Amino acid sequence: METMRIPRIMQDTSKAHILHGRTIGFVPTMGALHEGHLSLIRMAKQENDITVVSMFVNPIQFGPSEDFKQYPRDIDGDTEKLQREDVDIIFMPEISLMYPEGFLTYVNVEKISDRLCGAFRPGHFKGVATVVTKLLNIVKPAKAYFGQKDFQQAIVIKQLVRDLDMDIDIVICPTVRERDGLAMSSRNAYLSIRQREAATIIYKCLIEALDMIKSGIIDAGYIKRIMQDRLLKEAAVSGLDYAGVYDPVTFAELSEIEGDALLAVAVKLGDTRLIDNMLVTPDRRNG
Ligand code: PAF
Repeated sequence: METMRIPRIMQDTSKAHILHGRTIGFVPTMGALHEGHLSLIRMAKQENDITVVSMFVNPIQFGPSEDFKQYPRDIDGDTEKLQREDVDIIFMPEISLMYPEGFLTYVNVEKISDRLCGAFRPGHFKGVATVVTKLLNIVKPAKAYFGQKDFQQAIVIKQLVRDLDMDIDIVICPTVRERDGLAMSSRNAYLSIRQREAATIIYKCLIEALDMIKSGIIDAGYIKRIMQDRLLKEAAVSGLDYAGVYDPVTFAELSEIEGDALLAVAVKLGDTRLIDNMLVTPDRRNG
């Protein structure tokens, strides 16, 4: 396993692999790796000749009052995990090499970046779209892997790849959950024991909404009210950014569930903001 820190060297290495006819699978991360990341890496390894994992805590996707400084960092632990997964290359650039003095170009995916998380984290998806565009240009993968837990992020990235004519397959992999249903997230490490117990309310609330849809309820406003009531009754929930039923393409709120739907939640437990979602397709509704 090689560790690369200089974008230009990473780019030249990727070019050489491509020249030799090898495909590159890429998993972009901010480190603090958990089973969710490892599932993306395993998929990348299965489907490509070379696997590259980036670990870069991207300052421009955090708001001024967000957790950039506190974001969990465990380079040694992460490196060990990547070694065990037999990853080929870790790409770990310095901030000053990703955003050198004079950096002026940002990628903004309009409309879909403004809804759900975008409405509560202004500039977040612009920061994500910019860094992912740069990482894709540096690593030059055939396929890049993202988790469904960050569904809006994955859709924003799919959109930018399409709009900017990037010849890259964006693969969305299923959310990996703890035994009690909590979606794996690096931010789960911030939770106290009490908050960790209470956090299962997110999964329970999504399952309850899914069951309502399966039972034939199509009034999305009704389902939203039940979801929000359930979340707000949990004393450890200190804030509710959103919870409800959305169009999985535009992220607009649905009033009636006719085709595909996205059940999505963003809540705060103390200062920790957690998100989760479930996609409801007509198949799943009948299943
Ligand atoms: O999901 C993440 O960890 C980050 O948003 C990403 C895609 C690595 C960009 O910084």
